[in-house]
This record gives sequence, C-alpha cells and structure tokens, in this order.
Amino acid sequence: MLAELSLKEYLAGQAKRIDTALDGLVPDETTPPETIHKAMRYSLFAGGKRIRPVLCLEAMRTVAGRDVEGAMEVACPLEMIHTYSLIHDDLPALDNDDLRRGRPTSHKVFGEAMAILAGDSLLTYAFDVLGRSGNARLVVELASASGTLGGMIAGQVHDIEGEKQAPTAELLERIHRAKTGALLRCSLRLGAMHAGASEEELAAISGYGEHIGLAFQIVDDILDVTQTSEQLGKTAGKDAAQQKITFPAVYGLERSREMAEEERRQAHASLERFGAKARRLHELADLIVDRSS
Ligand code: IPE
Ligand code: IPE
Ligand code: MG
Ligand code: MG
Ligand code: MG
Repeated sequence: MLAELSLKEYLAGQAKRIDTALDGLVPDETTPPETIHKAMRYSLFAGGKRIRPVLCLEAMRTVAGRDVEGAMEVACPLEMIHTYSLIHDDLPALDNDDLRRGRPTSHKVFGEAMAILAGDSLLTYAFDVLGRSGNARLVVELASASGTLGGMIAGQVHDIEGEKQAPTAELLERIHRAKTGALLRCSLRLGAMHAGASEEELAAISGYGEHIGLAFQIVDDILDVTQTSEQLGKTAGKDAAQQKITFPAVYGLERSREMAEEERRQAHASLERFGAKARRLHELADLIVDRSS
C-alpha cells in the first residue's frame, strides 16, 4: 500500500513513475532531428524534484481515493511546461544563469538557438500529450496558468520589469502568484478535475494550491539567500545581484519565514474536508516549506 510508505519512499516511487512516463512521451535521442531531442531530454532528465506532477497525481488520489486512468498524460505535461520555463528563465536575455539542476544550463551546452527551441518543443509536447485526455477543460486550464493573464509568462514579465522598479509588497505578490503560483495551483486543479471533483472539492484543492504556490516561491527566494549553489544545483545569491523583487528583499528573512508559515497553515486548513485521504497533500505542504533545495 502506497499510504504506508515513508514520505521519502513515496516521493522516490512517484518520481520514478513520472520519469518512466516522461521517457515514453518524448522522442528518443536517435530520432531526427537528434539535436532537439537531446536538448529536450538533457533538461527534462536532469533530476528535478517533480513536485508539480506529484501534486497533480496526489490531487487525483485525494479526490478519487485511488489512481485514475490516464493520470500520467495529465501530470507529465506540467513537468514539460515547468522545464520549458526553466530553460527560458536561464537564457542570457532573462536571468542569464549557467547552472540548473546541478548541470550547465541548456544554452551553455546546446547554444541559445537550440535552448530556445528545446523550451518551445517541451511547451508544444505538453499540449500534444494533454490533448490526448480528450478533455478541453484541462487544456484551457493549463494554457491560462502558463499564459499572459496572471499566468507564468505574466509573472516572468513582471519579474523582469521589476528589476528596474521599487520593490513594493503589491508588485511582489503579483509576480509570485503568477510566475510560480499559477502553475502549482494548476497542477492540483488538473488532478482534481481529471478525478471528477465536485465544485466544492475543486475549490478546496485550489485553495490549497494557492497557498502552497505562494509558499513555494517564498521559500525559493529564501533559499537563494541562505543556501549555496552546490546545495541548490543552481546559482545562489542571484536575486540580490540582479535586484529581483523577492520576499527577503521586501520583508527581510525572518518575516519571510513567518509568511511561509502562514501559507503552510492555510494550506493545511484548506484540506479539512478531505480528512485522512489528504495525508500526502499535508505532507507535501510541509515538504514545500521545510525543504532545503
Ligand atoms: C524552480 O522550481 C523554479 C521556480 C518556479 C521557483 P523547482 O524548485 O520546482 O525546480 P526543480 O524542478 O526541482 O528543478
Ligand atoms: C522562475 O523564478 C520561475 C519560472 C517561471 C521559471 P526564478 O527565476 O526565481 O527561478 P530560479 O530561482 O531561477 O529557479
Ligand atoms: Mg527568473
Ligand atoms: Mg531564475
Ligand atoms: Mg529563484
């Protein structure tokens, strides 16, 4: 029984299932044009935490009480969109980063043109795969969470333009809810929707997603200040160097930690109606706040 595994064993098992599914969903490295498939796989299999598909699969289980058919075709597109967003986030024109997931960034290995195209192709495959669910509502949901109206791209735009603006609390929240929160919330909503959640269940899962989404980026900002590049697998201290609008920049470290705690508390409270079925989602909220990378 999955419920009896330790959190560590459970996460390792889910990551393996997700990796196997992803492997079957993207062309192999020998398929022409080889370079683009190599570049896609280089970033996709560099050892990310897989938190978005894990949350999606767990939302399905929480709602349905079991695994649901076609689960991987719903969960894997989230990791594809996320990985594309990281490849593009690291480009010289955006954050200009050399290190990602403990490896040189895509553009360092494959050049800028191929890195841009690797991001584009992961984005394209995400909708190819999700479309196979036959549920247009899921496709629309993922598109809007990734897009320009409060979605990931909107957040990235505010993040870049914010480098030249005063770090206000309002702008900070707008950036974080969009650039990271929207896709995390969407991960939970896609899972719940695929499992046939009622409107009330969907609202509760969305509330949880909103709180862990904000907590996730607060912690990402804190770790950028407190951890080393080796611990993170990406360049530490980047945010201050680039004058990013972050939680520590606006509120200081101590207050930022308190704010992450408040989001954690509200995330737990959002799950009340699910009782013991939401055990893993409770554990995942704790993991998101307590993680060190
Ligand atoms: C990093 O995301 C970028 C943000 C949205 C904060 P993750 O911390 O989930 O990165 P991986 O997938 O584990 O590499
Ligand atoms: C990136 O935020 C969010 C994305 C949409 C990729 P960051 O720029 O803070 O992510 P890291 O710290 O480079 O992973
Ligand atoms: Mg960035
Ligand atoms: Mg970055
Ligand atoms: Mg960051």
